[in-house]
Amino acid sequence: MENLKNKRVLIIGASSGIGKAIAQQVAQQGGIAMMASRSLEKLQEASKDIDGVFELYPFDMLNETDVANTFNKIESIDHLVITAVADENTLRSSLKNSTKEIAEKSLQKFWGAMFCCRAAVDKLSKNGSIILTSSIAIYRPSSAGDMSILTAGHGAVTAFATALAVELAPIRVNVIAPGVVSTSVWSESQKDNLEKWANEKLLVKHLGSPEELADAYISLMTNTYITGSILKVDGGLTLI
Ligand SMILES: NC(=O)c1ccc[n+]([C@@H]2O[C@H](COP(=O)([O-])OP(=O)(O)OC[C@H]3O[C@@H](n4cnc5c(N)ncnc54)[C@H](OP(=O)(O)O)[C@@H]3O)[C@@H](O)[C@H]2O)c1
Repeated sequence: MENLKNKRVLIIGASSGIGKAIAQQVAQQGGIAMMASRSLEKLQEASKDIDGVFELYPFDMLNETDVANTFNKIESIDHLVITAVADENTLRSSLKNSTKEIAEKSLQKFWGAMFCCRAAVDKLSKNGSIILTSSIAIYRPSSAGDMSILTAGHGAVTAFATALAVELAPIRVNVIAPGVVSTSVWSESQKDNLEKWANEKLLVKHLGSPEELADAYISLMTNTYITGSILKVDGGLTLI
């Protein structure tokens, strides 16, 4: 196991939810939390909860020029973590009603990951790692339906990461597939309903917290024997 002391960890999606919780843990463990997302304002607000060293990188991971300009300013990275983007609830559409525009938006998570991994390759430490974020929906599609193309986007990220583990070795590349996690992707009323559902149905009897997810990302960063893995962090959702 490595420790994170003085390690430079770029977290894209660090202004909220799971990404912010990862930034907090990286800084707490003595690493440098390089916090990225589109909004500087949101990053500044999130950084108030960071106990340790951080840097802020506002950029849009879907804009190739923005990605190139940002990575030009970065000399080195030990670990790259991507939790952005997270637009699940706004992209639902049945296959019949799906337009090319909806489909392209549903796959944007893959394009963002591809742009950022490509820009990061030459900056990444050989004993560093990349962690991408998929969804448990790749194993257990949502019963709410209308998410087939969005699920394909999560699948694309997953397949991309496992193939990258081979292509970029010895840099390790892994994927986290989160279950239902209490973040701002859900409205307060949705969270109440989901909490009730989790208490009754989920094996662990509670909704996932960003901090529980962050623990898993830290494990993948620091365990030097894990690569090419897809780690389900879902409270047992796939078993019910
Ligand atoms: N929460 C769940 O229940 C759940 C379930 C399954 C999978 N996941 C996955 O987990 C990941 C994290 O989700 P979350 O719940 O933590 O979401 P979240 O709280 O909404 O965080 C998303 C982050 O991505 C940033 N972002 C969005 N678009 C971006 C872009 N184009 N360029 C750069 N940054 C961008 C956002 O900040 P800005 O607005 O400042 O850009 C924010 O920091 C997502 O990949 C999601 O699909 C979540």
